[in-house]
Formats: sequence, structure tokens, C-alpha cells
Amino acid sequence: MESRQDKIDKLNKHKALSELGGGQKRIDKQHANKKLTARERINYLLDEGSFEEIGALVTHRTTDFGMQDQIYYGDGVITGYGTINGRLVYTYAQDFTVFGGSLSETHAEKICKIMDMAVKVGAPIIGLNDSGGARIQEGVRSLGGYADIFYRNVQASGVIPQISAVMGPCAGGAVYSPAITDFTIMVENTSYMFVTGPNVVKTVTNEEVSSEELGGAETHATKSGVAHKTSENDIACLEDVKQLLSYLPQNNTETTKKLEVTLKDEIRDVLSDIVPESSTKPYDMRAVITGIIDEDSFYEIHENYAESIIVGFARLGGRSIGIIANQPMAYAGVLGVNSSRKAARFTRTCDCFNIPLLVLVDVPGFLPGTDQEWNGIIMHGAKLLYALSEATVPRVTVITRKAYGGAYDVMNSKHIGADYNYAWPGAEIAVMGAKGASEIIFRKEIAAADNPEDKLAEKEAEYANTFANPYKAAQRGFIDEIILPKNTRRKLLKTFAMLENKIVERPKRKHGNIPL
Ligand code: HXC
Repeated sequence: MESRQDKIDKLNKHKALSELGGGQKRIDKQHANKKLTARERINYLLDEGSFEEIGALVTHRTTDFGMQDQIYYGDGVITGYGTINGRLVYTYAQDFTVFGGSLSETHAEKICKIMDMAVKVGAPIIGLNDSGGARIQEGVRSLGGYADIFYRNVQASGVIPQISAVMGPCAGGAVYSPAITDFTIMVENTSYMFVTGPNVVKTVTNEEVSSEELGGAETHATKSGVAHKTSENDIACLEDVKQLLSYLPQNNTETTKKLEVTLKDEIRDVLSDIVPESSTKPYDMRAVITGIIDEDSFYEIHENYAESIIVGFARLGGRSIGIIANQPMAYAGVLGVNSSRKAARFTRTCDCFNIPLLVLVDVPGFLPGTDQEWNGIIMHGAKLLYALSEATVPRVTVITRKAYGGAYDVMNSKHIGADYNYAWPGAEIAVMGAKGASEIIFRKEIAAADNPEDKLAEKEAEYANTFANPYKAAQRGFIDEIILPKNTRRKLLKTFAMLENKIVERPKRKHGNIPL
């Protein structure tokens, strides 16, 4: 008969085996590939000693291909819960040392179990992905496991924050879990994501492309927008996840905690000289953002993708806010297909997690051209219009310079439900630029003039005088106040505090039909 000590020894032996994953050799290989192991990642991510593992002794049930003789406790994924800066989170980390982190039926069941718990309890879930995809020895059972996860990703969407870190391979259908979650952060040089890998690409399209080029971190951060952020290595990635979480609430019924800040008189003179006198000269909207927010609090999303618009989280008086801002330094800040999609997605992320929105506007209009039209700028621009129109969080706008045409409406105008709209004194709010407008409405007069060029200049000045300012909009109440740039932070602190208890009820419906 087994003694009590024997039983304890047996448990310890099982636990030790589970901790070892696929064994020391494979752990060494993981380290040689500049990657941490799944367990090391979890330990780094969570507060020290806070991790509680669930299902450490789970094993796969496959008997095909001699799999009954290859049993590893945990089955290639470590799951459980713990805290980050004292906040409860659920997490899973795929263990590449066990069958390449591939996803079996039981591996999927483990992930689903903690996803279900996270939703019931109302706490964020963080997935650390590092996997060779479907467990090849399991066939359709593995595919079913993926779909079970995807389904839960969708049900949890907008209920709890879901963050995906891609820290190794993530290929085939496996990419669709990160794609559905709120944020995907990729590690540079060691991670990649694609639906079909370089070999299939070569066979089907005859293109020669490396994994890195096809789906590495840089590709997805600059070309596809699949990655919201990239990090230099595993440690930086886990730090990025922790920082990101600090801007998000536990779930959609909560708001983020206010961090303590000591407020002064909050006049920021630095904002006075950022916008150049000439309205055609670019300037860096990031300087405006920095001038408004709490020091060092900007966390940019999609920094190198669709750069004519900037989106990201920041703190204002210790509170988390989302910022959407046209960037005059990139394509003069125009709205295009990708910048509209980027801002629309960010708007919805903020709205579902009760994060107020600040929209900084300097937009000359939508980007013209066949490329844009044929790629559906109508539909993609509509996404941003739709997302902002349906957002019920506090929404405040500051027009720093241009707000022209349809883009004026789209960029959080009063008409689509913004709560408070400011403009700086140099704002130009009109249907179109003075030159284009004059060429159309004064065409005959200009043509008949002795010197058409002088006439155009005269008419342009006349139009600009009449419309390229914020006063017509302020007279109508479309702008609530014209403020000096240096007062912007002070005003916004008061406005967001005033809006804190905003409640908007919408008519009952299943869901809207956002143009996708
Ligand atoms: C079972 C797998 C595996 C998999 C890797 N391994 N992928 N076992 N199923 N999908 C095992 C390997 O046999 C090896 O076992 C160990 O993991 C490490 O793999 P290596 O090849 O040695 O590592 P590396 O050289 O770093 O290459 C990593 C890799 C490669 C690029 C991911 O392993 C690979 O190409 N794997 C197959 C990828 C794939 O085709 N997956 C299915 C995609 S379809 P040992 O015992 O030697 O340590 C898919 C559909 C999902 O995922 C659909 C969802 C809807």
C-alpha cells in the first residue's frame, strides 16, 4: 500500500515533470532561439508568486501515430490566473517545447476553460502564443479546438479585454484568435503570423518570400496593421502587455482606476507655437498630444501603420483616455482607407471599455485617387463615421487647424454626437480649401478678369477671410468654445471631469450593421 509520503512524492514527481515541459534539451533550444519558455514568460508577466496554474497534469488523449507513448503533462500550454500590479488576469502560454506548442483537443480545452472563467469573473485574458499550429497527429479534433477558442474570443469581445502576444510561430487558422482579440503585440525577429506560409505561397503564386517578410512583426506593424505594436524581445513584449493593461478596465462594466497626479495651474505655453503660421506647413501632432496629456503617458497603437492618423491611450489628470489625431506630418493628415479603419477600430475598442475619447483634428479631407476609390474609401471612411456616431463614451474634439469637407463631419463633429467641441483660433472649418473653392464659384469672374491670377488670389483671400476660420462654426454652436492652445489641457481636464457621469441609452436592437 502507498504510504502518505509515497503519495506526496508521487504528486511532486508529476508536478516536476509538468514543470519541465518538453525537457531540458528543448528548453535550451528555446533559449538558443532567443525566446523565453512559456513558464518564464508567465512568471515575468505576473506579480511575483501570484500565478496559480490550472490543469498542470492534463495530457492529450491521442493514440494515433504512437502518441500514447509521448505524454507530456500540460500538453503544450500552461494556463491559470494571477495578478498584474494587483489586478486579476487570466493567462495562457503555449509551450513550444511540447510538440512545438501545437494545439491538440485537450490543449484547446485548457484555454477554453480559463476563457470561460475570465468572462464569468470579468477579468482580462492574456494569451502568449508560440505554436506550430494544429497538432498534426490529431487532425480535425485540433481544428475543432481552434474553433472552440475562436467562438469564445467572439463571445468575450467587448466584455473583457483580450490581449494576444505573438512570441513565436502563429500560422494557418491559428492567426484568427489574435485577430479577434483587442490587441496583438508581436516580438521582432522571433515571431510570425500568416494564413499560408512561404512554401504554399511559392506553390500557388510563384512568389519567393521569407517568413519574416511575409508575416514578421515589421510586416504586420507597417503593411497589414495586424500587429498593434512590436517589441524588441520577449521581456519588452511582456512589459508592453503590462503597460497596455494599465489603460484598460477589468471589464465592460468598469472604468479604469484614476492614478494620483498633482495638478498645477495646467497652462501649457508649449502648445502656443506648434501650429505654424502658414496653413500649408506640416507640424508634428505628437507634440500637441504631449503638450496636453500627463507627462510620459502616451501609449501609441499602430504607430507605424497608416501614419496620417495617430491613435493611442494616454492619461489626463490620472484618467485613461483614448486619443485619435490627424497627423499633418504624414500625407497632410488626410483620411484614407487604412487610417479610417485604424481610427474606427480604436474608437470601438475605447467605446466598449468605457474609455473617453479625445479627437484632435487637422484634416484637409479624404485622400483622392483611383487607388483609394477602388479600395473602398467610401466604405472604410464610413466605418469611422459609424464608429464615432455610435460611441457613447465622453467625446471631446479640439480642432487645431483644418477641418474640411466630409472629414469635418467624420472627425467627431458635434453633429455625430461629440459632447464638447473646441477650436483653436487659427482653425479653418469649411467645405473645402480657399483656392479650390474660389476656382469653382468664381470661375467666370476669374476668366473674365484682365489678370486671372491676381483675381484668383483676391477671391481666394476673400473666401479664406469668410470661411477659413472657426467663427462661422462657433456662431452656429457647432464649436462650443474657441480657446487659446495654451489653455487646452486645463479646459480638457474640466470637460472630461464634467462628462464623467455621461449616460446614453440607445434603442434596443440586435446590433447595428457597420459597413465592414
Ligand atoms: C505536432 C509539431 C507541430 C505540429 C511542430 N511540431 N509543429 N508537432 N504538430 N503542428 C513539433 C516538431 O515535430 C518538433 O518535435 C517540435 O515540435 C519542434 O519543431 P521543429 O520543427 O523542430 O521546430 P522549428 O525548426 O523551430 O520549426 C517550427 C515550425 C515547424 C516552423 C513551426 O515545426 C513547422 O513547420 N511545423 C508545422 C507547422 C504546420 O504546418 N502546422 C499545421 C498548420 S495548419 P520534436 O519532437 O522534434 O521536438 C493549422 C491549421 C489551423 O494550424 C486551423 C485552425 C482553424
